[in-house]
Amino acid sequence: MAEVLIVDSQDEAGAIVAREIADLLKDKPDAVLGVATGSTPLAVYRALEQLIKDEGIDVSQVRAFALDEYVEIDPNHPESYRSVIHREVTERLGLNPEYVLVPGQNATSLATAGQEYDAAIEAAGGVDVQILGIGRTGHIGFNEPGSSLASGTRIKTLAAATRRDNARFFDSEDEVPIHCITQGIGTILKARHLFLLAFGESKADALAASIEGPVTASCTGSAIQLHPRATVIADEAAAAKFDNAEYYRFAAANKPDWQGL
Ligand code: F6R
Repeated sequence: MAEVLIVDSQDEAGAIVAREIADLLKDKPDAVLGVATGSTPLAVYRALEQLIKDEGIDVSQVRAFALDEYVEIDPNHPESYRSVIHREVTERLGLNPEYVLVPGQNATSLATAGQEYDAAIEAAGGVDVQILGIGRTGHIGFNEPGSSLASGTRIKTLAAATRRDNARFFDSEDEVPIHCITQGIGTILKARHLFLLAFGESKADALAASIEGPVTASCTGSAIQLHPRATVIADEAAAAKFDNAEYYRFAAANKPDWQGL
């Protein structure tokens, strides 16, 4: 089962994940990061930017792979995930843009883009740390309910609830693309350490279902139960629907260095 940390703020969560990543980069300067878009990971990127500056961490060899991208969008649109990742990750952290890839970028065709992306991740040595948010539909990446738990990167259709949630980044809901190219659940599970972050009450149901419910394609966040090294970090509001919150707090407060996840 995953380690679950309940924190007071997004900044506290960001600091925990950023510390892990900064330590990884010191040990492994060519580490491979799996990066998410949306609001959830922003605190991680801000905290990591600060650690990189304060501790003079060399990031020139770091590679990064994004989780997903919209299909029907101009890559130069400010809300394409290529643009978002460029702003929030590549520029903020000072990564080499040539080492940062978004699904579909440089693909020879839409039909082969998914396989090409998974091959690129594999060729880079696999993802060391994957940052994940969760949607109200329980999705990780854009693996909406019904997605295969063994899936690789491929084209998917966004759920209506996801398009509604993401309309905040566009002028209207109609502008939100219908299709996306997303890492599959099988792709995500290959990363060596998963961090799933969730903030706010709108995530509470999906998070509880993912961590404490059955492993099911109806809630793809539940696939993280299959991963041997997953850390879940939630604020109080997102943790509100857990049955076992008291146990998670007790375990976190009593975790010796030698204990695994
Ligand atoms: C983003 C992604 C999605 C988001 C999720 C939560 O790359 O794959 O799974 O993490 O939709 O979005 P926010 O963080 O905006 O609430």
